[in-house]
Amino acid sequence: MSLIDKVLSRRSIRAYSEEKIPGHVLNKILEAGRQAPSAGNRQPWHFIAVTDKEIKEKLSWGRVNWFIKDAPLTIVGCANTVTGNWSIVDTTIALQNMVIAAWAMDVGSCWLGAFRENEVKNLLNIPEGWKVVALITFGYPAEGENRFPANFQEMRERLTKKKQIDEITGYNKF
Ligand SMILES: Cc1cc2nc3c(=O)[nH]c(=O)nc-3n(C[C@H](O)[C@H](O)[C@H](O)COP(=O)(O)O)c2cc1C
Repeated sequence: MSLIDKVLSRRSIRAYSEEKIPGHVLNKILEAGRQAPSAGNRQPWHFIAVTDKEIKEKLSWGRVNWFIKDAPLTIVGCANTVTGNWSIVDTTIALQNMVIAAWAMDVGSCWLGAFRENEVKNLLNIPEGWKVVALITFGYPAEGENRFPANFQEMRERLTKKKQIDEITGYNKF
């Protein structure tokens, strides 16, 4: 599949097979973050690759992020807010680079905004001056049409329907 087809076929994956992510694949995912653009080339990010079962269980506290414990990898993206407002944008770009790079290697992922920042910071020893931007689960998709596990079925339409290009785009004016 070409890169453009990979970009267009990416969808949030919330059900993972038990297959681990090999080290060389993880390194490529991290490298995609490292190579991302950033304002003034400040690279104001720090990534925590969580693979430890107990830590993953502690992060899986709620209805919308319980699958952290089933994903072989969760990357926690942190932005150094001391360097200014762009740090959150920069870190977001780096994380999405990772998502696309992962999918190019058939590794699915899901962004998670549902986390308790203070708990995540305490659990992972994240210092003052750093903001947790997002958590992203990564793993090979489980077989079958189960990227929406049972407790997500009623949200399926809301979470998948995409707006049309003419709804979201203006040409030469808003
Ligand atoms: C910033 C952000 C936060 C999100 N938080 C969650 C979340 O907490 N739980 C979840 O299951 N999906 C979460 N998602 C995934 C969205 O639900 C998903 O991207 C959206 O429904 C579009 O579906 P798609 O990614 O398959 O195209 C989040 C996505 C983004 C970008």
